[in-house]
Amino acid sequence: MPEPRQILVTSALPYANGSIHLGHMVEYIQTDIWVRFQKMRGNQCYYVCADDTHGSAIMLLAEKRGISAEALIDGVWAEHTTDFADFLVEFDNYYSTHSPENRTLSSEIYRRLRDAGYISTRSVTQYFDPEKNMFLADRFIKGDCPKCGAEDQYGDNCEKCGATYAPTELKNPRSAVSGATPVLRDSEHFFFRLPAFQAMLQAWTRSGTLQDAVANKLAEWLDSGLQEWDISRDAPYFGFEIPDAPGKYFYVWLDAPVGYMASFKNLCSKRPELDFDAFWGKDSTAELYHFIGKDIVNFHALFWPAMLEGAGLRKPTALNVHGYLTVNGQKMSKSRGTFIKARTYLDHLSPEYLRYYYAAKLGRGVDDLDMNLEDFVQKVNSDLVGKVVNIASRCAGFIHKGNGGRLVAGNAAPELSDAFLAAVPSITDAYENRDFARAMREIMALADRANAWIADKAPWALAKQEGRQAEVQAICALGINLFRLLVVFLKPVLPNLARDAEAFLNVAPLRWDDLNSLLQDHPLNPFKPLMTRIDPANVDAMVEASRENLAATDSKPAGNGELLAEPLAAQIDFEAFAAVDLRVAKILKADAVDGADKLLRLTLHLGDEQRNVFSGIKSAYPDPAALEGRLTVMIANLKPRKMRFGVSEGMVLAAGPGGADIYLLSPDSGAKPGQRIK
Ligand code: MSP
Ligand code: ZN
Repeated sequence: MPEPRQILVTSALPYANGSIHLGHMVEYIQTDIWVRFQKMRGNQCYYVCADDTHGSAIMLLAEKRGISAEALIDGVWAEHTTDFADFLVEFDNYYSTHSPENRTLSSEIYRRLRDAGYISTRSVTQYFDPEKNMFLADRFIKGDCPKCGAEDQYGDNCEKCGATYAPTELKNPRSAVSGATPVLRDSEHFFFRLPAFQAMLQAWTRSGTLQDAVANKLAEWLDSGLQEWDISRDAPYFGFEIPDAPGKYFYVWLDAPVGYMASFKNLCSKRPELDFDAFWGKDSTAELYHFIGKDIVNFHALFWPAMLEGAGLRKPTALNVHGYLTVNGQKMSKSRGTFIKARTYLDHLSPEYLRYYYAAKLGRGVDDLDMNLEDFVQKVNSDLVGKVVNIASRCAGFIHKGNGGRLVAGNAAPELSDAFLAAVPSITDAYENRDFARAMREIMALADRANAWIADKAPWALAKQEGRQAEVQAICALGINLFRLLVVFLKPVLPNLARDAEAFLNVAPLRWDDLNSLLQDHPLNPFKPLMTRIDPANVDAMVEASRENLAATDSKPAGNGELLAEPLAAQIDFEAFAAVDLRVAKILKADAVDGADKLLRLTLHLGDEQRNVFSGIKSAYPDPAALEGRLTVMIANLKPRKMRFGVSEGMVLAAGPGGADIYLLSPDSGAKPGQRIK
């Protein structure tokens, strides 16, 4: 057995002035999967994080809400920690940068930098709000663009013409905080002498610590020369006062990364076996990884290693940088309903669907990743429910019925279990290198082989024949064993599925080592369904709930003829209406769809053509045949949509909140199939 590795892992500290959204979740899910993998391997791995609580934005938000900054960050901490826990992100410690440990560590690092000559001071001229008595950061100054004259532009760039400029160039400047006209004022600032670390950074960024794309970006910055970094802000500021400098505060980005150390320090006080210096001291042999998004690379690859070096501490082993999330190919958008908060997702869908989808999308690179909502439904349903869980549900019944729930000993197809074993090194390597997409592909390829083998052996057919019970048991025992191996492979991604599978399999918590063995002559517990399909209606509901103008409504189910509290959508012009081709349609056939709880397959007659349409109305029409022959209304020019069961060529119109309360529309008698509704 090799010595267990000592690994400290962090995710970026989310700002304490807003909710966690699905963009953030890319990072926390990615990190959590990697950490769970390390722990399953038997490594000593610690995952720490915290809320990033300092800065003027948080101070002003608290003021606006009429509460203290401390009260604001306490409330956000509670929200963030429940969001993460409900997404099964398991931190060893989730702390706050507004902590005594962080104050002590930030001050200590600063003192060391100062005493080593890495801090300089000089006067800086900046806009000052004479009403609020505070200096204004660029984003708190507004005015007219000096280039194109557009009004109401921020202090650093124009959204209209794209020009960038200094805030002092804005015409008619005003404070976005109070509306007052700002005045120029001088103040002494503290600077970190970053250029002193040029050579060290040049070497460090080329030493295998960074992905190639990131190292190349840094080379550009390093080649164009480094500037001293302004690390102080004047009071009033929510943060830590700089030692020996009354009224001067650390800029939030100075104490934020120290927050990684502070969170770990706090963990050490709860776990006496942990030695802080063994992880952060100059001679530490522990591994240290920061998972971050591509937008904050400069802070982690320039300022942070330089600060650590200057303060006589160890530097990170590597930065693991990921790209940005897009939804349906575009930036997350409040009006499109794709700016989805973690909580809104959780209100409609199970966390493991997203964990799997992100895993299937995440490679080693820094490319952006797209969450296509249709693909999300398809992929999760077909891979997790259709391939993985399916194996257990196909086999468990025969074992319970035919052998009292006991797996027989033996191996019905050693070549198949050997193929699983042979895949272990490659899947292990993919996880280790954060190529989760490859790991998921290889795992699903194994699931396909297992399913194909079971389909070929058809235990359900053998079970009906006399004297073939032993074969049925041998096939299903291997089926369950292969399922168990798939669960081990997927456990870092799907911890709840693994927990439920462990209960069914009647085994101790699965570890990576368990890939080397099969269960023999082993009693199972009763099988319960392990995962249900995503109903696309829940995805639609999540998007609706995320749409900015509808976000605040809580529609309650309609009672007796009571009107639904569903607000009207935004107004559209006539062209938008005319673009929708509504037609009278006759329902020729209506059947339930195998494997879909909510769907009916409708064959519609539209005058001179027929359409196949899937509609989620089964809950209201349990006897679909009763629909045959009646007229309804359909959208005839909706783009065909590929579903798991076939292509849906349009949509029928119905009203109501769902369940039994769904009412298919009908035209008055006399309408003819195919007639356009205008
Ligand atoms: N507070 C800083 C980090 C300080 S670390 C010492 C910060 N906070 S953040 O809340 O804006 O972002 C936290 C992390 O989430 C960052 O790594 C950021 O890149 C990531 N993401 C935020 N939005 C994202 C997407 N839309 N997509 C992917 N990751 C994103 O930055
Ligand atoms: Zn402009």
